Amino acid sequence: ACVYPLSKGSLHLHLLLMIFLLQQMVICAAVLVLMTLLILYGSNNTNDAGYSPFRVSSHQALKTTDLKKWSSREGYVPIYGNKTMNLHCHNCALVTSSSHVLGTKAGHEIDGTECVIRMNDAPTYRYDDDVGNRTTLRVVAHSSVFRVVRRPNEFLHRADSNPMIIFWGPPNKIGKDSKGALYRLIQRVSMTYTNLSCFSITPSKMRKFDSLFLRETGRDRSHSWLSTGWFTMVIGIEICDNIKVYGMVSPNHCGKKPVSKKMPYHYYKPRGPDECVTYVQNESGKRGNHHRFITEKQVFARWARQYNISFIHPSW
Ligand SMILES: *[C@@H]1O[C@H](CO)[C@@H](O)[C@H](O)[C@H]1NC(C)=O
Ligand SMILES: *[C@@H]1O[C@H](CO)[C@@H](O)[C@H](O)[C@H]1NC(C)=O
Ligand SMILES: *[C@@H]1O[C@H](CO)[C@@H](O)[C@H](O)[C@H]1NC(C)=O
Ligand SMILES: *[C@@H]1O[C@H](CO)[C@@H](O)[C@H](O)[C@H]1NC(C)=O
Ligand SMILES: *[C@@H]1O[C@H](CO)[C@@H](O)[C@H](O)[C@H]1NC(C)=O
Repeated sequence: ACVYPLSKGSLHLHLLLMIFLLQQMVICAAVLVLMTLLILYGSNNTNDAGYSPFRVSSHQALKTTDLKKWSSREGYVPIYGNKTMNLHCHNCALVTSSSHVLGTKAGHEIDGTECVIRMNDAPTYRYDDDVGNRTTLRVVAHSSVFRVVRRPNEFLHRADSNPMIIFWGPPNKIGKDSKGALYRLIQRVSMTYTNLSCFSITPSKMRKFDSLFLRETGRDRSHSWLSTGWFTMVIGIEICDNIKVYGMVSPNHCGKKPVSKKMPYHYYKPRGPDECVTYVQNESGKRGNHHRFITEKQVFARWARQYNISFIHPSW
């Protein structure tokens, strides 16, 4: 799937991608063996791989945090070179990956906003009528790095002249001290695309995101993952004085009767899973890879009143 011309840099990138894929296959095989062993021994004590979350007795008293004071730019370290994360915008458009953005024709309005924030590998190509085609900042999960790097024309070239990417993930995968293949891949990308400023979230900042979730919800996030939406919203509040969120439903949207009509979870996967089914299943998930999408939105609703956030398409 070579869709871009091979330069020396991208040849290296290709090699790294292949090494990365091989490593993933090895890891998959190892996991398979491990799971078989676990099943054989009747143990169900599998752990969330990655950074260990806070485990505090649930239902603590809710405390609200002033995110403007909470923010610390030291939490974002450059992957290559000595850039600093100093982005500040008066107005931001936060474009979600939900299919609610389809048919909105909001592209020109989004592109007219000072800063445009997107998530993971959400494309603009062929969707720009609805989502615009500028990107100031992309917040990317460790699990999406590969999909972003695989299509550099879409995600790394077609953006503002000096776009930023913030990678989040467990420190053992994307942290500076990580010697893993994923980190080397991100490093190569930062060296190849010099206009791009790539940052990773430090381990201590990752823990701050966790404890923020705990404080705002009274629930610790163990046995679940914070979503890219959570990281993006918090980072957006740190960076922007005003945020317009495109395509995010309200926390009670999926509980409404009659049940809302089916909407794909991602605008760029029309035959992908339904949004509400994904939200509701994830919210009640007990093990494995799941997110508290609805709980997170309850917090966003509270933050909206505090931090100049408005939601459009749908508006609430
Ligand atoms: C680090 O920043 C200084 C000035 O701020 C600059 O002169 C230097 O070239 C930078 N080094 C790298 C590796 O980017
Ligand atoms: C996308 O970018 C092009 C310039 O490259 C511009 O002419 C066009 O209007 C943009 N489309 C939208 C919908 O914003
Ligand atoms: C890189 O940034 C410079 C100035 O910051 C700009 O002139 C140039 O067009 C950018 N290149 C790309 C590929 O965006
Ligand atoms: C809300 O927006 C106003 C006007 O743009 C700005 O002065 C104020 O600082 C913003 N409030 C917060 C909490 O960002
Ligand atoms: C939870 O959401 C993810 C997408 O972030 C999805 O891939 C997964 O299938 C969902 N899990 C459940 C149990 O619905």
